[in-house]
Amino acid sequence: MEAQQILSRFCPKPSSLLLPSHKKLHTLPCVGLKNLGIQRLGCSYTEGKKKRVFCVRRTIGEEAAEVKVGATMPARRKKLAVFVSGGGSNFKSIHEASLKGLLHGDVLVLVTNKHDCGGAEYARNNGIPVVLFPKVKDGSDGLSPSELVDTLRSFQVDFILLAGFLKLIPVELIQAYEKSILNIHPSLLPAFGGKGYYGLKVHKAVIASGARYSGPTIHFVDEHYDTGRILAQRAVPVLANDTAEELASRVLKEEHRLYVEVVEALCEERIVWREDGVPLIRSKDNPNEFC
Ligand code: GRF
Repeated sequence: MEAQQILSRFCPKPSSLLLPSHKKLHTLPCVGLKNLGIQRLGCSYTEGKKKRVFCVRRTIGEEAAEVKVGATMPARRKKLAVFVSGGGSNFKSIHEASLKGLLHGDVLVLVTNKHDCGGAEYARNNGIPVVLFPKVKDGSDGLSPSELVDTLRSFQVDFILLAGFLKLIPVELIQAYEKSILNIHPSLLPAFGGKGYYGLKVHKAVIASGARYSGPTIHFVDEHYDTGRILAQRAVPVLANDTAEELASRVLKEEHRLYVEVVEALCEERIVWREDGVPLIRSKDNPNEFC
């Protein structure tokens, strides 16, 4: 993809402000759209202890530069909710990464449909509040969709990370957290996804198909199973004599790495939406590169 196309997507809905005249601008390496009579430049300046990064759009020939803010280094740590139904190894790796200071965010609450699952136990052992969702059959325990939204709001949750959560996410939650809910799936979507594709069933189907590669997909969540926009993938080889358990374990190791990398980008506000609706991750080292 051409750099200028990408750059135009860098500021999808920029808000305007006038650059403080006393600030010294540092231009980042970007591409100017000279043939359109427009210059777009990535710039940064220092305000107190904060470094601000933004996108400048200026019609060539105009003296005054109107500055559009596209991306600012996040000042605030992001608040995360993780949803699990099982062992919670992805949850654990994200939580550990946060404790090690690798993420600009913290896990504030764990949501589960199984109060006694490994993920819930890990949360309780680590002082993370556990919330039961959805309501269990007899109705005495668990939250309704609107109560869940209220609860997440009360924790001021920014992002929701599904990590082996087997219940469909209610539309109330998807609407309340637009473009803010991620899921990890253990195959290269759109292959081997959808209702019924979970756990070892996914890996058995991959092996039976003869596919030579599998691997995790992280995608945004919509109203259906595994159909939201793909954000990141990692390929893992499928070996000739693999059992489903062996393939699952190879994919899971890669899941742990990939989910932490993606959550790191999420917390640093490095997710960029391309004009056609595809989300990209802006490289940490070079703002003009995407993964
Ligand atoms: C992972 O394989 C994930 O891709 C899928 O459910 C599994 C959860 O594993 N959605 P864990 O509970 O994180 O160990």
